Amino acid sequence: MTQHEAIGQSDSVSKLHLHVVADYAEVSRLAADVVSRVVQDYPDAAITLPTGETPRGMYEELARRIREGILDFSGVQLFCLDEYLGKGIDDAASLTAWLSETFLQPARLDPAQVHFVPSQAADPVSAAAAYEQEIERHGGLKLAVVGLGRNGHVGFNEPGSAVDSRTRIIDLTEESRNQNASYYDGEETIPGQAMTMGLGTILDADLVVLIVSGAAKADILLATLEGPLTPDVPGSFLRTIGSRLIAIVDQEAAAKLS
Ligand code: GLP
Repeated sequence: MTQHEAIGQSDSVSKLHLHVVADYAEVSRLAADVVSRVVQDYPDAAITLPTGETPRGMYEELARRIREGILDFSGVQLFCLDEYLGKGIDDAASLTAWLSETFLQPARLDPAQVHFVPSQAADPVSAAAAYEQEIERHGGLKLAVVGLGRNGHVGFNEPGSAVDSRTRIIDLTEESRNQNASYYDGEETIPGQAMTMGLGTILDADLVVLIVSGAAKADILLATLEGPLTPDVPGSFLRTIGSRLIAIVDQEAAAKLS
């Protein structure tokens, strides 16, 4: 049995596409290739892209391609994946500000193309439902690129998240708050809650790309791709979509896979 077959859910379900590449630079390039391909095929696609250390290289590559005119991103509808509750683009320590600095500005995207998670809404529950409807109005997500938290979270779907969860408010774990504090230079305080697209929102995308890099993610990648399907490891639910999942991981992250 090949590694590719071994990590499938069952014989009756089509298998995910696993790409184990040499290093972080390769993860970044291949992820940028997949995003580019989707945008070329569907110029007005609704897509979601993650924050974190992992996608930095992908964003650099995408922004370069856009600036050089190799990739036309002007019709894309970019839906943000998650945000701290009560924070927005004007807060230095927000995910949206991070995304703006890392991708929106370098790629010179029009703010009108970007849909922000309604994390500052007066009524966040109905605003979250409206966010889902906005995605639907744009034809649903053609593509979701996600990273993997060290506790297996996807977006901010922390352990305990249901496979059919939708955009909602979630309590952040101490581990995730500590991890994310490192994204910012100053002594930023990471809020205790966030608003995130749900696992169900992400899994409804036509294509989901999981990017994972580095030895520190080897254990959680093993649990994600080869462990039980469980809310304890939200990333494990990515396998429920079979061949609509492309996992792009480097050798260090893949070191413990069978
Ligand atoms: C963060 C984000 C996720 C991200 C994950 C991994 O908390 N909410 O969207 O994928 O953690 O981050 P990193 O790539 O920095 O390891």
